[in-house]
Amino acid sequence: MSAINFTLIKQDGQARLGSLKTPHGTIDTPIFMPVGTQATVKAMTPDELKQLGAQIILGNTYHLYLRPGHELIARMGGLHEFMGWNGPILTDSGGFQVFSLGELRKITEEGVRFQSHLDGSYHMLTPEKSIEVQEALGSDIMMCFDECPPSPGDRAYVSRSLEMTTRWARRCKDAQRRDDQALFGIVQGGIFEDLRARSACELQEISFDGYALGGVSVGEEKERMLDVMNFTAPYLPVDKPRYVMGIGTPEDLVEGINAGFDMFDCVMPTRNARNGMLFTSFGRVNIKGAIYAEDRGPIDPECSCYVCRNFSRAYLRHLYRAGEILASRLNTWHNLNYYLDLMSQARKAISDGRFADFRRDFYAKRDKTC
Ligand code: GUN
Ligand code: ZN
Repeated sequence: MSAINFTLIKQDGQARLGSLKTPHGTIDTPIFMPVGTQATVKAMTPDELKQLGAQIILGNTYHLYLRPGHELIARMGGLHEFMGWNGPILTDSGGFQVFSLGELRKITEEGVRFQSHLDGSYHMLTPEKSIEVQEALGSDIMMCFDECPPSPGDRAYVSRSLEMTTRWARRCKDAQRRDDQALFGIVQGGIFEDLRARSACELQEISFDGYALGGVSVGEEKERMLDVMNFTAPYLPVDKPRYVMGIGTPEDLVEGINAGFDMFDCVMPTRNARNGMLFTSFGRVNIKGAIYAEDRGPIDPECSCYVCRNFSRAYLRHLYRAGEILASRLNTWHNLNYYLDLMSQARKAISDGRFADFRRDFYAKRDKTC
C-alpha cells in the first residue's frame, strides 16, 4: 500500500492533468511547489501561502538536519506541526545540497561525508541516514538519496554514478520504516538518453511511489535540458507522479508540462523576488530600474493578485531601493502568485484540451515586449 494515490484525469498531447492524494491533502497536478528550505517559505506565512493557492511545499533534509536538527523537529511534533503548515510537504533527500558543497565533501559507496556550511563540523549522510531524517521530519513525500553529477559531465563518470544512485535507491527503500510517507526514486544519467533509460528502468524494478528527474539545469545548455525532459518522460510509468527537480523559469515549467511532467519546485520565484526580479505575463521586470520611478501601473496589468491590485511599480521600486522588509514580502507574494496561477491556467488548458494553444499564447505574449 502506498501512502499516496495518483489519478491521471486527462492527457492532452503529452501534458497530464492529475490528482495526487497525500496524507495531508489532495494536490492538483501539474503543480508548482514553493521552496521552504529552512522550515519557512521565505517571507510568507503558511496562511498567506494558502491564500496564494499553494497546495504543497518543499523542505530540505540537509538544512533541517544541521539546524535545528531532525530529532528536535520530531520532538516538536514533526515538520508540519513545527512550522504551522498543515498541507502536504515534500522533502528533498540532502543529496543535491551536499554535492553543492564542493571542497567540503567526499563521496564514497557508503554515502557522503561533508562539513557543515554553518560551523565546519563533520557529518555523514547516507541513504539510511537521509531516510531516518526524512521520517523524523514526517514529510508526505520523501526523496531517495542520490548523486547529482555536474552536467554535461563525462559519460563514464555519469554511468558509474547512476549505478550507485540505483544502489542507494534500493538502500533507501530498505531503510523505510513508516508506511504513511511516500518515497520517490530519482532518475539520473545526465544528457545521455540510454543512461536515463537505464536509470528509469532500474528504479522501476525497485518500485517507487513516484519518479523524479534529477540532474537537470546543473550546467548543461538549455536545449539539452529540454531534450532530457522530452526523451526521459516516456520511460516513466504513466500511473505514477513525475517530478522535475529544481526547475525553473516559467518557460521551463511550460516545457516540463508539455513533456509530460506533473510536479516542479524552484527557488526562482522566491529568491528572485528578494532581488527585485519580478515575473509577469509579458516577461521579466527588474523593479530597480529608473524607468519605474514614477510608474503608476501594477507589476503585471494581467495579474489580479493583492500586490498588483494595490501597489504601483513606483512604490515597489522605492521599497526595494530603501531596503524595506515589505519589498521582499510583496515581491514574493506576486512572484509566487504568478507561478501558481500559471500552473492553474495550464491545468485548465489541459482540462479543456487546448494545452497547445495555451503554450503558443504563453510565448506569443512574451515575444511582444521581450
Ligand atoms: N534538486 C535539484 N536537482 C536535484 C537532484 O538531482 N537530486 C536531488 N536530490 N535534488 C535535486
Ligand atoms: Zn501580481
